[in-house]
Amino acid sequence: MTPVGRILLREETLDPSFLPPRLVHREKELDLLFRRYREALGKGLPYHLLLTGGIGSGKTAIARRLATDLERTGRLGQLPVRSAYINCWRRASDRTVMLDLLRSVHVSLPDRGYSLSEMLDVFEQGIRKAPQHLIVLLDEASALVRQETKLVYLLSRSREVELGSISLVLIAVQDLFPYLDPASRSSFGVTHRLSLAPYDREALTDILESRAALALRPGSFDREVLDQIARIAAPNGDARFALELLAGAAHAAEDAGADSVGPEEVRRAKGSLLPTVAETQLESLSTNELGVLLALSRTLKRRGASVPSQKLRTTHSALLDELGGTPMSRTTFWRTLKELEREGLVTLDTGATGESSQVGMDEMPASFLATLLEERLGRGRARKG
Ligand SMILES: Nc1ncnc2c1ncn2[C@@H]1O[C@H](COP(=O)(O)OP(=O)(O)OP(=O)(O)O)[C@@H](O)[C@H]1O
Ligand SMILES: [Mg+2]
Repeated sequence: MTPVGRILLREETLDPSFLPPRLVHREKELDLLFRRYREALGKGLPYHLLLTGGIGSGKTAIARRLATDLERTGRLGQLPVRSAYINCWRRASDRTVMLDLLRSVHVSLPDRGYSLSEMLDVFEQGIRKAPQHLIVLLDEASALVRQETKLVYLLSRSREVELGSISLVLIAVQDLFPYLDPASRSSFGVTHRLSLAPYDREALTDILESRAALALRPGSFDREVLDQIARIAAPNGDARFALELLAGAAHAAEDAGADSVGPEEVRRAKGSLLPTVAETQLESLSTNELGVLLALSRTLKRRGASVPSQKLRTTHSALLDELGGTPMSRTTFWRTLKELEREGLVTLDTGATGESSQVGMDEMPASFLATLLEERLGRGRARKG
């Protein structure tokens, strides 16, 4: 039996190194690539690809998923398909990449003293010993390509230069095409380039849901909290950040002895991942803003990732009564919300019909914010009195 309080049942599945079985919202791209590879390999041809997209847009995951699926099912003539994944981030030279490539075909050379062409010879021997079609994935290839690499040319012309049968996949955040030498460019024509659009909030929510289903105890999360996380990660469309928030919030919930992940834990996780400026920001807010923010944080600390603006206005009116302030017009209330949104302290989602908005706050735990604000407003009143 699962002890109550355990939420992260398979935490390792949230680790960036874990390759999920399904990549929701990237089925179309994967299908397209899979078809292109099958088609080319079926004709006995290699297929080179330049894969780009923003941080956390799923480039590495797609490339590894594609390679794994092709290893399982693809063939080029009689040759089985194998893949070699190399992250070039810290190995941005042809020789260091070559050392990894040698390992992938099970031959090795000591780290020094050999020229690139000697290494290529040994590499070719390795491939000849175990004939295969090798898909070489060069991840984070920016620095390598911008350093006038020869390897890109050699690997994309493997047959002409008698290196064996190789498909080359270059992965980077920015488009590398302009940096390729003219001879390599011809291998990366338009059908050999794929750029991944950033994930939007809905896609991020679905991704979080599919990953939470693997990692967390059923019933320990709901769509509202996943949507809150997606709302925070959406401006950059970064799935990695979204998953980090999910893991952080799940830990916070476990630490608190809760049996599910709630909006307060998400706020706490965000605060610990991104240094929050909110506390010092409070100093510069108007009394109107402080009041609306207090009403919001009091509502949110009870429950919810957001609250309808109508409901917030009612709570706020009651608060003004309590504080002895003058009532606020609908227009002023709305303008104040807009100001808070501009300052990055609240989020406003206008519903499809546009009649009422959902007001959220993700900067810090609402209970903490409420305490800070009560202190500030309390001090303000004391000074006046
Ligand atoms: N469609 C998806 N479904 C499920 N998980 C996803 C999906 N897309 C990305 N992820 C997960 O999000 C995280 C980030 O994705 P990935 O590492 O592929 O991004 P990236 O584009 O390579 O980012 P970077 O430029 O920082 O290397 C990984 O943990 C990955 O498993
Ligand atoms: Mg990556």
